[in-house]
Amino acid sequence: MSARLVFHGLRRVFRNGRSSSVAIAEIDLTLEPGSFTAVVGPSGCGKSTLLHIAAGLDTQYEGEFEREPANATLACLFQQPRLLPWRTACDNVAFVLEARGISRTESRQRAGEFLALVGLTQAGEKFPSQLSGGMQQRVALARALAVDPDLLLMDEPFSALDELTAARLREELVTLCAQKQRTILFVTHDIAEACYLAERVVVMSAHPGRIVAEVSIDLPRPRRPDDPRLVEYAGRVLAFIDHGMSQGVTH
Ligand SMILES: Nc1ncnc2c1ncn2[C@@H]1O[C@H](COP(=O)(O)OP(=O)(O)OP(=O)(O)O)[C@@H](O)[C@H]1O
Ligand SMILES: [Mg+2]
Repeated sequence: MSARLVFHGLRRVFRNGRSSSVAIAEIDLTLEPGSFTAVVGPSGCGKSTLLHIAAGLDTQYEGEFEREPANATLACLFQQPRLLPWRTACDNVAFVLEARGISRTESRQRAGEFLALVGLTQAGEKFPSQLSGGMQQRVALARALAVDPDLLLMDEPFSALDELTAARLREELVTLCAQKQRTILFVTHDIAEACYLAERVVVMSAHPGRIVAEVSIDLPRPRRPDDPRLVEYAGRVLAFIDHGMSQGVTH
């Protein structure tokens, strides 16, 4: 079962005393079950705000947001791995399974399988401080996938990594996505990454954050990151971002 997300007329205003700022406005967006959507846009355009609302972490919005079915399971992956430092890699993954009522033995066994999926078979008994940044992010990815989420929400998950590690994790994500249909919302400022991963790239502009364009990436998978057609798509996305930014300056 994969989830459907619908945003309609969504608006989020941050209020601080007497001042207020409109972070996002007029967001109309539907994520069909099993689709992979990337959201790109300049810093501060409201990408994380949108993702936090999708995750249910922020409920102070106006307009409509629906997650169907309402009991769809979700997992989030952020820029930082956010692991528990006092738990080993295996126990970090097992923790989320135990929290769902799975026995400790089975949780640890399943955690080991997911760590193997992200290429970390040898690292299960290491603590986060003993792992590289890329390895920690792999643990976080294993933890996100271990709960078998219907909906995967990712906020710049690879942006803090070196390009080589990021490229490997992108490939792993593509492989893992091919194994199970799940709905993915992937926020990034990396246009090439968005075009490589997603079926659809949603472009936002800032002040307030609005959707200015949607680009379908009509390329079969597996894709090659150096496919010249991806470079063309990236050029189109960039042109929309530039256009959105110049509109923001003049209005
Ligand atoms: N808790 C908050 N209180 C007040 N303003 C906020 C809060 N969170 C976000 N904002 C504002 O909302 C706008 C959108 O922020 P958001 O973090 O969603 O942007 P972003 O697109 O994710 O940026 P980046 O690419 O830098 O991560 C910004 O102007 C930001 O200052
Ligand atoms: Mg952000």
